[in-house]
Amino acid sequence: MERLPYYHILHLLSLIVLTAHTFMAFANPAPENRKRTLMITGIASLLMLGSGFGMMAVLKLSYSAGWVLVKFVCWFGLSALAGIAYRKAHLRGVLSTVALGLIATALFMVYLRPF
Ligand code: HEM
Repeated sequence: MERLPYYHILHLLSLIVLTAHTFMAFANPAPENRKRTLMITGIASLLMLGSGFGMMAVLKLSYSAGWVLVKFVCWFGLSALAGIAYRKAHLRGVLSTVALGLIATALFMVYLRPF
């Protein structure tokens, strides 16, 4: 069975869910939403990492490639932002810029693979 397209779809779907719920946390960091948002972003984040490693295994890519390491850092940062938004709600403007920067960097890495 060809597993790659399923990993690809899972990777993109979880990226969309993670991004959407992170920006929902920025828009309305109300304490009553916290548990649900952190649960959804946590699951999406793990699925994104798992599908990323799945693709690396199928494509036999090196784990020490520069673009993968940078993407890993972007993934780590993006995954932490929803939690930070609830604790430091006054920083939401800065955090949303950081989120966009991390996503843009990860996209540059996967499409251009500069190193
Ligand atoms: C914020 C973080 C991330 C973003 C925005 C992101 C985005 C993407 C996108 C859009 C693609 C599809 C590229 C295409 O059209 O072929 C992709 C593919 C991929 N991603 Fe990620 N990703 C992220 C994190 C990760 C992480 C942490 C890993 C490693 C564990 C990873 C590993 C991969 C691999 C191996 C591919 C397949 C590349 C190929 O088809 O040759 N990604 N990613």
